[in-house]
Amino acid sequence: MSTTRGLEGIVATTSSVSSIIESVLTYQGYDIDDLADNASFEEVIYLLWNGRLPKEQELRSFTQELADHAEIPQAIIDQMKSYPINEVHPMAALRTAISSLALFDENADVMEEEANRLKALKIQAQIPTIVTAFSRVREGQEPVAPRKDLGFAANFLYMLNGKEPDEVSVNAFNKALVLHADHELNASTFTARVCVATLSDVYSGITAAIGALKGPLHGGANEAVMSMLTEIEEVENVEPYIRKALDNKEKIMGFGHRVYKNGDPRAKHLREMSKRLTDITGESKWYEMSLKVEDMVTGEKGLLPNVDFYSASVYHSLGIKHDLFTPIFAVSRASGWLAHILEQYSDNRLIRPRAEYVGPGKQTYVPIEQR
Ligand code: ACO
Repeated sequence: MSTTRGLEGIVATTSSVSSIIESVLTYQGYDIDDLADNASFEEVIYLLWNGRLPKEQELRSFTQELADHAEIPQAIIDQMKSYPINEVHPMAALRTAISSLALFDENADVMEEEANRLKALKIQAQIPTIVTAFSRVREGQEPVAPRKDLGFAANFLYMLNGKEPDEVSVNAFNKALVLHADHELNASTFTARVCVATLSDVYSGITAAIGALKGPLHGGANEAVMSMLTEIEEVENVEPYIRKALDNKEKIMGFGHRVYKNGDPRAKHLREMSKRLTDITGESKWYEMSLKVEDMVTGEKGLLPNVDFYSASVYHSLGIKHDLFTPIFAVSRASGWLAHILEQYSDNRLIRPRAEYVGPGKQTYVPIEQR
């Protein structure tokens, strides 16, 4: 038996949800560059779940359906209020809340396709409500109920801040959601598929995926990037900070990728957004620091920024708390997880690889008093 560490290069399934071919990312055949410039996040969710772009009326009703299902049970909010609030990371709160949601859904374990599609819709609609409610509850504020007249991106920012967001913020946030929606067989999506391939339920799949996304080698990197930029503080500190980190063989968060070796196609959109938004906020230092970090890490290590690197300064410029960056990634990636879960159910086979055994040879049991 031979092993491939981290399953690098292993093709573990077929999928029609998204593809990465020669560094080009497509969702159901549509280039991410096109979608980032033109599509609403609702359109992208529809595309991922149905394999085609919606017509005008279909998009209108789908957007309405999402808005109609956005409220979460009061008991989930009460549960958040009972957490030892200051110590809870929002990703942990989100993981728990999604798992709890299953307890309020009498069809949680019904495996028919229609029931699973309805669960997908509810989860996608309610994730933003959970993330924003937790953000407010931990600050001693009441959650803001979702509005039915606002689109997905606008509703998130509205529920987060309690006031209607401006158009620039909505467009930027929408684009970030589009860019993060799906990414072939990334670690959290694979986790979701492994989970539901046992014929476990949709809520379990999403809960498992959130657990995988939380780690700093995956979605958690965007928060880690902002911690690094905050620590660096000023452009002139970049050079000594990065030099020391590279000399110590530390990983620079937001750089490198298992699949892309010639650059992540999402990064350029986020770089451009970071420039635009930091110009508007008057805090261009975050963009300038990021550029300088990129210059050094790419110049010296040949590593290119991934989706997480510039998303940090983008979300910061939108006034979002740094520990909400990864939950926002989950708000978007849920659309991809759900598409993959539905695809897995449609042609399921248990996912069960092998391990090459490297432990001790044959042992003889020794009674405890003789050890
Ligand atoms: N900073 C410094 N060195 C790095 C980095 C980095 N960010 N990424 C990779 N390297 C180096 C490794 O140390 C290793 O060097 P070595 O061969 O001298 O030991 C070499 O490049 C290969 O790296 P691996 O860790 O083996 O690459 P792998 O494919 O396993 O990991 C990963 C990919 C996890 C993304 C890695 O690049 C990393 O840890 N990056 C930082 C975390 C990050 O940004 N994660 C987000 C990824 S995108 C996403 O999930 C949304």
